[in-house]
Amino acid sequence: MSNIVIIGLQWGDEGKGKIVDLLCPAFDAVVRYQGGHNAGHTVKFGDRHFSLHLIPSGIVHEGMRCVIGNGVVLAPDAFFSELDHLREEGVDPQGRLFLSDRLQLLLPGHAQVDQAREVARGDRKIGTTSRGIGPAYESKVSRYGIRPCDLYSATLGERLEVLTDKQEAELGRAVEPTGEALLTACRQWAERLRPLLRNTSSLLSAWVEEGRSLLFEGAQGALLDVDHGTYPYVTSSNATAGGACIGSGVPPTALDGVIGILKAYTSRVGEGPFVTELDDAVGEQLRARGNEYGTTTGRPRRCGWLDMVASNYARRINGIGAIALTKLDVLDDCDEIPVCVAYRLDGEETTEFPSSAEALARAEPIYETLPGWKSSTVGATEPEQLPRAARDYVRYIEERIGAPIALISTGPRREETILRRELPVVQSYFGERTERILAVRDAG
Ligand code: GDP
Ligand code: IMO
Ligand code: MG
Repeated sequence: MSNIVIIGLQWGDEGKGKIVDLLCPAFDAVVRYQGGHNAGHTVKFGDRHFSLHLIPSGIVHEGMRCVIGNGVVLAPDAFFSELDHLREEGVDPQGRLFLSDRLQLLLPGHAQVDQAREVARGDRKIGTTSRGIGPAYESKVSRYGIRPCDLYSATLGERLEVLTDKQEAELGRAVEPTGEALLTACRQWAERLRPLLRNTSSLLSAWVEEGRSLLFEGAQGALLDVDHGTYPYVTSSNATAGGACIGSGVPPTALDGVIGILKAYTSRVGEGPFVTELDDAVGEQLRARGNEYGTTTGRPRRCGWLDMVASNYARRINGIGAIALTKLDVLDDCDEIPVCVAYRLDGEETTEFPSSAEALARAEPIYETLPGWKSSTVGATEPEQLPRAARDYVRYIEERIGAPIALISTGPRREETILRRELPVVQSYFGERTERILAVRDAG
């Protein structure tokens, strides 16, 4: 049995939700370990459509256990509304959804601070999701944060006061709700959360001991990682593979592999450098065909070609053993497909991903151009169904990135996926459960 981490290799929205959902039949539990409701993960199959933000995408599979780990920042209102919505959709999470009692609560004041800071930054804004993610992680690291296990403490009122005093000092006004109203809200959340709370690190360790396999669902993407991404235009958590251990309490030695999700082109929401961005009709075509509008905020996503300098960097820092290449079908109409293979930076050619966002902003893409296939790949489930030029594109990326492409996604729905079962990495990650994945895929 394998424990596998799913990581976005770009700036998020690579299709992690779709791939997690597809792979669920090979796993016993799905774990979210970082981020918060800045994430928007889409799951589609048949005529069903789910947008998940805090709850692991595995929840739509009947009986699948789901865990929200200690590394997540959880806004109680957003969480309960997602839970209610799932119930309305006929998904019953009863008895199989567990939350770490050590995660960080994202309180209304965090979102208010996030929004005020973005306004104050003016032209230098990050373009956050305005959910309060950065301020919530900041409270955690500053040790003013409130965790579910603190909700039952006799000193909760005092701790809330320390936190809101800081927020109100920064905002120059009261946060909403504050004082008694906030304390009352916390008490209500405490009661609703109580049956879901666990020491999830112990729970996960016990499952691993029993031989169950865990699928870790990363949020955001490697280039948004607070340490390794395009700082300061990043999120505030570790979206790289190492985050799976920190954010779940499962040790690195229990992990068996990492699957990187790579969109066949690139998108980015919010501000920050983007070397292969297309500001023209071609970019608009990618956005329209790929339906590149944020799952969480509805913002149009910036679009551009695949960037192998950035992708290779992401492959290396995450220890990627296999790749899922998504949204191949979005390129179906392209006459030709440029791929960025190096940067020209200050007169020099380089394949090193720069540390500084300012340097990255100066970098110009050096492209190799591949022919398009000008025919439909939509819904392909076997490599042989792909036109030759599409197969060549896949092989080209595989060679350039130096990791096998084990999955190719040819549409938003679970059914629209190629799983290359003949690859050794597929056997090593999913073993005999590979057939289960295929059976559920084909059932739609
Ligand atoms: P995530 O944040 O990585 O889970 O990705 P999102 O769900 O935010 O964004 C991916 C979008 O692309 C969603 O609308 C998916 O339904 C859609 N999608 C995923 N895979 C494919 C694919 O192979 N082809 C097409 N056309 N759409 C896809
Ligand atoms: P999923 O999991 C794409 C981006 C925001 C902004 C930056 C910081 O769906 O891939 P934050 O609110 O986190 O402080 O914003 O990070 N961002 C995402 N972009 N997909 C996401 O999640 C994102 N989560 C945050 O747009 O640029
Ligand atoms: Mg998303």
